[in-house]
Order: sequence, then structure tokens, then C-alpha cells
Amino acid sequence: MRDTFLVFGAPLIEEAEIDEVAASMRSGWLGTGPKVARFEHEFRDYVGSAHAVAVNSCTAALHLAMVAARLEPGDEVITTALTFCATVNAIIHAGATPVLVDVDPATMNMDAGQVKTRITDRTRAILPVHFAGRPCDMDALCEIAVRHGLRLIEDCAHAIEAEYRGRKVGTFGDFGCYSFYVTKNVAAGEGGMVVTRQEEDAARIKVLALHGMTKDAWKRFGDEGFRHYQVVDCGFKYNMMDIQAAIGLHQLRRVERLWPRRKALWDRYRAALAGLPVALPPEPDPAMRHAYHLFTILVDPARAGIERDAFLDAMTRQNIGVGVHYLSVPEHPYYARTFGWRPEDYPNAMRIGRQTVSLPLSAGLTDQDADDVITAVRRILEGAAGAR
Ligand SMILES: Cc1ncc(COP(=O)(O)O)c(C=O)c1O
Repeated sequence: MRDTFLVFGAPLIEEAEIDEVAASMRSGWLGTGPKVARFEHEFRDYVGSAHAVAVNSCTAALHLAMVAARLEPGDEVITTALTFCATVNAIIHAGATPVLVDVDPATMNMDAGQVKTRITDRTRAILPVHFAGRPCDMDALCEIAVRHGLRLIEDCAHAIEAEYRGRKVGTFGDFGCYSFYVTKNVAAGEGGMVVTRQEEDAARIKVLALHGMTKDAWKRFGDEGFRHYQVVDCGFKYNMMDIQAAIGLHQLRRVERLWPRRKALWDRYRAALAGLPVALPPEPDPAMRHAYHLFTILVDPARAGIERDAFLDAMTRQNIGVGVHYLSVPEHPYYARTFGWRPEDYPNAMRIGRQTVSLPLSAGLTDQDADDVITAVRRILEGAAGAR
């Protein structure tokens, strides 16, 4: 067994971002400023979108995208039953009503066929999540959105590098929303980004992200003289700091260098764990580019001889940090109580949520770390088989 604990999702921090943060600290400009503007610019160019606005989380990005989409109380937004709570909470914060669909059992992405069956005369938007970094079926979702006149807001928290037929996800919809949370492929501690085609939407999001103050209000303390601002909307405190952008800028610049490392780890897990009594994620469709954010196995007690939660505990005892992405949304009491959702109505998401285990997949993992993970999984499953 390894002698140190392998932290799940530990970011790979290098000297460039440490120096950049130190430079921001020394300059005294910690808040929203020129580094945020540069990060927006480079991010926009990376994904190939017309506009990008940096905010302090993906949750804020999703919320602002929905406010900019001018959703109103009673409007319905269709999303997936297998996602982080932030996706659903953002819909609720925007005053709209979330409507869930089940996922495809193999891709774990929202089932586009089911989306069609959930459309009512109150549906205004679809919110797909590119789960684990695997692109959703954007042909089908775009076709549904166009046919029914719906806004499309993509949750790309797992999927910065993901492409669908050669085009970056996040650029298909009206808005693409990204996360720079500590475990994400580009980590800034906390942070988010909204990309959009429409200049008007980007401008509104920018204003809403800083209290509704007029554009460039952050420059008011700069060396160009004091600038007055006006409050033109009732906005939020969602702006990104230069300290965050200082980290994000360098992380973004090496995102393409690290992608092959996570792909190699993903392939190594798939090859080494094949033949064990757990389900592995399917190979990516060749027409897609997977972002390799999560590597999830499914521990079915009937097959593996061990309950999922016992497997999680056993991995931790082997000094391997693991994650659960995610218990299905209807399993949480708030949603069950508020919307009357029942897990069994979303059977694929329910089963995945009860069986899933995420293995460490940070680009900072060494081959030895990956082999320790593989050894731990094998040992636990062999022990479970021996105990039968
Ligand atoms: C699918 C998904 N959506 C949204 C979020 C929210 O991101 P943030 O923590 O940046 O608000 C996360 C974060 O884990 C996520 O995994």
C-alpha cells in the first residue's frame, strides 16, 4: 500500500502561476483588472467564441447566462438528472423551473430522445452537461432547440478541451459556462467563464456580474483618473479577481500540453481494469474529443461482491482519494421535497449515482500513482471475490 494519501483532483500548479500571483500581490492590484481582461481574451480565442466574460464560479456563469436569456418565473429549463447541484440551483436562482431528463446509460449524458418528450409550452431552454468531459449529442440538441425556439446553455464545467465534430463544446449554444474550481482541468482555485456569440449578451453579463454597474467600473481606481459609474441593473457580486486570472492564465496556456497526459492515464486505467467485475467508461466516439476530466467506474454489488460505499472506504484505507460524481439530483431531499422528484423515475441516473466511483485523474499523477490506484482497485475486488 502507498505510504502517502493520493489527494483526489489535486491541481498541477507550476512556477509560472506562482510568480504571476506574486506579481499581482506586489502590484497591489488584486481585484478585477488587466489580468482578468487578458484571461477573457485568451479563453475566448482558445474556445473559438466571439465573447468571454470571467466570473467567480461556474455557478455564477450559469446563473448569469440564464438571466441574460431573460427567463421568467414559470419558464421551464430542461436539464440532466446526473449533474452537480449547481446546474439545477442556477435554474432555480434565475426564477425558472428545472425539468429533469434521464441519462444515456453508456455516455451518462442527457438523453436527447427524452428531452423531446419533456417539452411543454412553457419550455424556454435546454441545459446539457458534457458529463466527465464527454460531449453531449449536440446535433440532436441543437436541432431540438432550433425546432422549438429554445435557448441552449451548455454546462462545460468538465469539458474545457472537449470537441464535437471538430468544434469546441460551449460554442454550440447561446451560452457556454466553464468552471476553474480547484479540481477542474484549468484550475484557479475558484472561477468561471461565460462564452457567447452575441455582443449584447456579453455586455449584459459583464454589467450583471459587478452589481449592475456600468461597463469598466472596475477601472474607477486606475491611473486614468477617477471614473464615475452608474448602476443600470440590479446585478450580483460575481466578478473574478486578478489573483484568480493570474493562476488561470498559465493553466490555460498549458491546457493542451496536459490533455495528452490525462488521456494516457485514462487509457492506462481502461487497459489495466478491463476484465475486472466493474463497468468502465466506453471509448470516446471518434468524431468527438473527450476532455478526460473524470474516470468513473461502476461498482455493482451483485457483480463486484462489494457495496459502492464500502468500496469508497476501502480505497481511502488504501490511501487513494476517490470521488462520487454524482448522486442523482432527485436523491437529494431539497429537490424531492420541492419538485416531488423520485429517483426511480430517472433509473439510469439513479443506478449510476448509487454505483459510481471516480478515480484520481489529475495531470500531476505519476505512472506510479496510477499503478497504485490500479493495484488498490484490484486488491479490493479480489478481496471481495475471496469473501464470497
Ligand atoms: C457539472 C458542473 N456544473 C457546475 C459546477 C459548478 O462549478 P463552480 O464550482 O465553479 O461553481 C460544477 C462544479 O463542480 C460541475 O461539476
